Amino acid sequence: MSSLKDKVVVITGASSGIGAASAVKFAKHGCRLVVNGRKQQALNEVADRCVAEGITRDNVAIVRGDLKEDGVVNEIIRTTLDKFGTVNILFNNACYHSLVEGPISINGKVESLDEMYRINVRVPYMLIQGFIEELIKTKGVIINCSSGYSVVPVTLLIQ
Ligand SMILES: NC(=O)c1ccc[n+]([C@@H]2O[C@H](COP(=O)([O-])OP(=O)(O)OC[C@H]3O[C@@H](n4cnc5c(N)ncnc54)[C@H](OP(=O)(O)O)[C@@H]3O)[C@@H](O)[C@H]2O)c1
Repeated sequence: MSSLKDKVVVITGASSGIGAASAVKFAKHGCRLVVNGRKQQALNEVADRCVAEGITRDNVAIVRGDLKEDGVVNEIIRTTLDKFGTVNILFNNACYHSLVEGPISINGKVESLDEMYRINVRVPYMLIQGFIEELIKTKGVIINCSSGYSVVPVTLLIQ
């Protein structure tokens, strides 16, 4: 798929799972990458796997940090535009994972709900806002990863 060569791809939650696998796959197609997550070691390993697919280490920018902090979100935007000068694909993949971060239930903490909204809605909104001008110029793509849980009522909510 030669059309992806040199495209700039931003992936949140790229230190594991779907985000990490996507980073490696995009690298295989010759993309330049900006990857975010909280675990430095895991991000380094993803960068190494991207290099093993044939791109240079300079073409993988790591922005480590917790997306709960606006500064980290802004750093992703700044790093992308300063380093690569453009963006073609924004992959909003990181999520508040109720199995990892704590359940959202009617008996749960209301703070968990705030956190879920922040990571799953506010962060993608901020990133889209920061990149939209450039994405329109490049006729780019925004991918928002969701879950079946967002459309299927689950009894887990009442525990
Ligand atoms: N796996 C599934 O079966 C499944 C099903 C439906 C939907 N999905 C969706 O697919 C996407 C990825 O899921 P996954 O299973 O691949 O998840 P995962 O392996 O648990 O990875 C989640 C990623 O998000 C990052 N992340 C979480 N909170 C963060 C925060 N506050 N700041 C920065 N990074 C943060 C994690 O970084 P660190 O680990 O470095 O902190 C990690 O890289 C999610 O949007 C999820 O809703 C997955």
